[in-house]
Amino acid sequence: MASVFNLFSICFLSVHVVGSESKIALTSPRLKLSYQDLLTSNGLTTYRIERSCCYSTLLLDEERNRLFVGAKNFLASLNLDNISKHEPEIHWPAPVEWREECNWAGKDINSECMNFVKVLHPYNRTHLYACGTGAFHPICTYVEVGQRTAELQFRIDLSKTEDGKGKCPYDPKYRSASVLVGEELYSGVATDLMGRDFTIFRSLGHRNCLRTEQHDSRWLNEPKFVNVFWIPESNNPEDDKIYFFFRETAVESHGLGKVSYARIGQICRNDIGGQRSLVHKWTTFLKARLVCSVPGTDGSDTYFDELRDVFMLQTKEKRNPLIYAVFSTSSAVFKGSAVCMYTMNDIRRAFLGPFAHKQGPNYQWIPYQGKVPYPRPGTCPSKTFGTLESTKEFPDDVLQFARNHPLMYNPVYPVNQRPILIQTNADYTFTQIAVDRVPAADGQYDVMFIGTDIGTVLKVIVVPRERWHHTEALLLEELQVFKNSTPVTNLELSSKRQQLYIGSDLGVSQLPLHRCSSYGKACAECCLARDPYCAWDGSSCTRYLHNTKRRFRRQDIRNGDPNTLCSGEPHKVRVLERKLYGVEGSSVFLECVPKSLQAKVIWTYQKPKTTQREELKTDEHILKTERGVLLRNIQRKDAGAYLCHAMEHGFTQTLLRYSIEVINSWQVKELTRKDGPNDPRYASQKIWYQDFLQLVDHPNLNTVDEICEQVWKRKNQQPKQRPVPPPLPAKAKPDKWKHLPTFTKARNRRMHEISRSDRAPRSAAIW
Ligand SMILES: *[C@@H]1O[C@H](CO)[C@@H](O)[C@H](O)[C@H]1NC(C)=O
Ligand SMILES: *[C@@H]1O[C@H](CO)[C@@H](O)[C@H](O)[C@H]1NC(C)=O
Repeated sequence: MASVFNLFSICFLSVHVVGSESKIALTSPRLKLSYQDLLTSNGLTTYRIERSCCYSTLLLDEERNRLFVGAKNFLASLNLDNISKHEPEIHWPAPVEWREECNWAGKDINSECMNFVKVLHPYNRTHLYACGTGAFHPICTYVEVGQRTAELQFRIDLSKTEDGKGKCPYDPKYRSASVLVGEELYSGVATDLMGRDFTIFRSLGHRNCLRTEQHDSRWLNEPKFVNVFWIPESNNPEDDKIYFFFRETAVESHGLGKVSYARIGQICRNDIGGQRSLVHKWTTFLKARLVCSVPGTDGSDTYFDELRDVFMLQTKEKRNPLIYAVFSTSSAVFKGSAVCMYTMNDIRRAFLGPFAHKQGPNYQWIPYQGKVPYPRPGTCPSKTFGTLESTKEFPDDVLQFARNHPLMYNPVYPVNQRPILIQTNADYTFTQIAVDRVPAADGQYDVMFIGTDIGTVLKVIVVPRERWHHTEALLLEELQVFKNSTPVTNLELSSKRQQLYIGSDLGVSQLPLHRCSSYGKACAECCLARDPYCAWDGSSCTRYLHNTKRRFRRQDIRNGDPNTLCSGEPHKVRVLERKLYGVEGSSVFLECVPKSLQAKVIWTYQKPKTTQREELKTDEHILKTERGVLLRNIQRKDAGAYLCHAMEHGFTQTLLRYSIEVINSWQVKELTRKDGPNDPRYASQKIWYQDFLQLVDHPNLNTVDEICEQVWKRKNQQPKQRPVPPPLPAKAKPDKWKHLPTFTKARNRRMHEISRSDRAPRSAAIW
């Protein structure tokens, strides 16, 4: 019932949201690049290890210029400039005994009973801290990496390993999250083999380990941990907090069945547990719901509740980063994704608001209205907010209240109370996000790189529209970064190196953040791309650098209007000219696919020896398709120029000009009479077709007669016994088109038919 309802409101979603205010629904990408495109000409590099998989753990180390990778049974240290360079790896398998035990416990020896590296953090100046599942026997170790780039090392001492329980999951399928702060590890993880005891756990360092209340569904209820960050609260480090992002089965969704909610949880870094109660447990743990929803027309909201990933974008104020979160819907019927943005002010406000309270099993959840004990639960003991020195001094009523009220009544709403973008009609869902703040000529933009479950990365920006708070999401690029469809499991972004590192089960990919030259060679194309990384420098589309003194930089992200931006710019792109010959009565296909998938294609026609153009009208004789125009049964009157124009954002650009000449069918007959239908080598006409096709558009030949003469001569010089090549398949591309860019490739599909007696339906022969 709920899902049908969900689906129903989604149908109205785009209408409502796209309407007057904001365009938050993603449209088709402007530029789509395949894996091959990226590999051959756009700087994609890849990395994988033989006999490994599952590169889910990436650690970016700008200082050492390294990308550390955790995979199945391996650790790798890659060069940030080029991850494809051959680099040493560390083989770190699980011991044989553990693998056998794992197998006895009913797990698969080859897929599950392996050491999947899930934790990788900088530990001190010379070491990293790494943990793996160790065949359902979590294990951790220190990785020596050297102090500086000059003294790079990469080794582990397998005799010095530690128990990984509470730091790393047992099951490679389980998600966990952790952060290492001052030699202490904060992790959200399942701490048992069966994956039933979930905890937020602090380990390492010199203090006692701390955890959440065990088996208390009010604290954690089947959580899936997504990410965790250390964020200062004030200038006083005593107030520092650790924020956990997860999703879990909601306790408060009374009557709606088993519903998943997204959560943010907080704990104080200086929490050391209670004295008489909550001993070795968090005394400052609080959690709130993270809402990401869109209003439907009927007043009901559509919720995106499956939190997938969270990115923390640092701002000038260390205590106020922006939180970007990726969600999908939990409905089985409807597939949708969203990105919501949250501020720390809104998050802190929720934790300062009312506590959620439930009198007894048959009561509703309500805001707690009684007196909240002092110091208010969730406050770190510090001189900023009180006089207590440690959580061990908290009075019993505070601990009692904290144990019973971990949930806040008010949820955290996103900025502007709605997502900044949604995707509701795609065959993929979002899985990961990384954000780069980019200064541009007309302001700064947060460029989002969103990983999907089909191995693509989307590059998206949000631009302000005319009115306050109204925005428009633009999908600049859709990039296939893995050879096969596979979920993106990790994204790391280096602003310094302008590179993106992408992890998946299949491998690691590295891609520059921008490919300005791929947008085209004209000012208008560069402008229409609306990519904050790129600008028109007077001769090409190149990287925009904000603080350089170069004056001649044209960029207009907000409006993307080439009519104003590029006026006075010489229109450098030469319109590609193509000459085609068609035999009367045959069909000709004029291909034209603009680079931008958002451009609308318009065709015009110009009679020979005139300058007037008119829009090409479709009828049973002229067919418009997605890739071009098909002229069927062409006649002499169809000769002339056919121009393909791309219209985008109010700007029109001519891409191609086809000049068509029509040859009389009797001319063709003349040429083939000697071989006529009675000739035993009748099939050799096919050779003639091929020769003809190869000569069409030959730069040195101008008239049909010349072509035909040459073909005829060549044909007569050929040895008579030459085997007959198979007929040209309708979709074959003769090599001669190879030098043309993809979008100009015009295929003249069997444009002439010699045998007039062949009455097969012509359309069937072509398609
Ligand atoms: C990266 O390194 C590989 C192997 O050394 C090399 O083949 C490739 O050309 C390099 N790629 C780039 C973009 O430098
Ligand atoms: C870093 O930690 C490792 C493991 O505890 C230790 O062996 C090493 O001496 C430490 N390095 C520094 C510079 O403190």
